[in-house]
Amino acid sequence: MTVLTTHSLTLRPWRASDVDALIVHADDRRIAQNLRDRFPHPYGRADAESWIEFASSRPSPNPYFAICVGDEAIGSIGIDAFDDVHRRTGELGYWLGAAHWGRGYATEAVVAMTSYGFDQLGLARMQAGVFAWNPASTRVLAKAGYQFEGTLRSHVVKDGRLGDVLLYAVIRADLT
Ligand SMILES: CC(C)(COP(=O)(O)OP(=O)(O)OC[C@H]1O[C@@H](n2cnc3c(N)ncnc32)[C@H](O)[C@@H]1OP(=O)(O)O)[C@@H](O)C(=O)NCCC(=O)NCCS
Repeated sequence: MTVLTTHSLTLRPWRASDVDALIVHADDRRIAQNLRDRFPHPYGRADAESWIEFASSRPSPNPYFAICVGDEAIGSIGIDAFDDVHRRTGELGYWLGAAHWGRGYATEAVVAMTSYGFDQLGLARMQAGVFAWNPASTRVLAKAGYQFEGTLRSHVVKDGRLGDVLLYAVIRADLT
């Protein structure tokens, strides 16, 4: 079982016993409005159980981790691999419960996951597409060494609102 540790956090596989904490932290429109529609709002027990079942049953090396303070899951971070000629690229996704925002936790988690993506998943590039109304996330990526590569105009529709996506990426050579 892979466990990543940072200054403040443990990133570990999801467990069935995380379901209550997951509902507490995930059931928040401020989180959902910055993620894909597959992250629902409201976020109920069936959603939490379904996510934990999915995320904990991936083949090794598992790309999905619970972000934990102590043993409490307070958020999530994961890497979705592209395929075909883009298969050495991973797309990073993450969120934290709002009670824990503003302490540098997301940056710690992104730094740890980026190393994991390069070293354990064999990726050559990692990227994230940030909705243009989300400056906290672009700041996280910049602090973690990601570079702004451009704007994908009108690339997202969320809750009926059309918006741009800001593409941030890091390649292995950037970190050496
Ligand atoms: C984005 C998110 C993960 C950030 O988590 P966090 O632990 O608070 O992030 P950090 O503390 O590591 O860093 C946040 C940075 O954004 C800055 N920030 C926060 N709100 C901001 C705003 N409205 N405008 C500009 N900067 C902002 C903070 O000041 C901090 O930068 P600093 O260290 O230079 O002061 C969290 O807000 C979240 O889960 N949001 C909802 C889901 C989401 O957006 N996921 C990412 C999708 S791409």
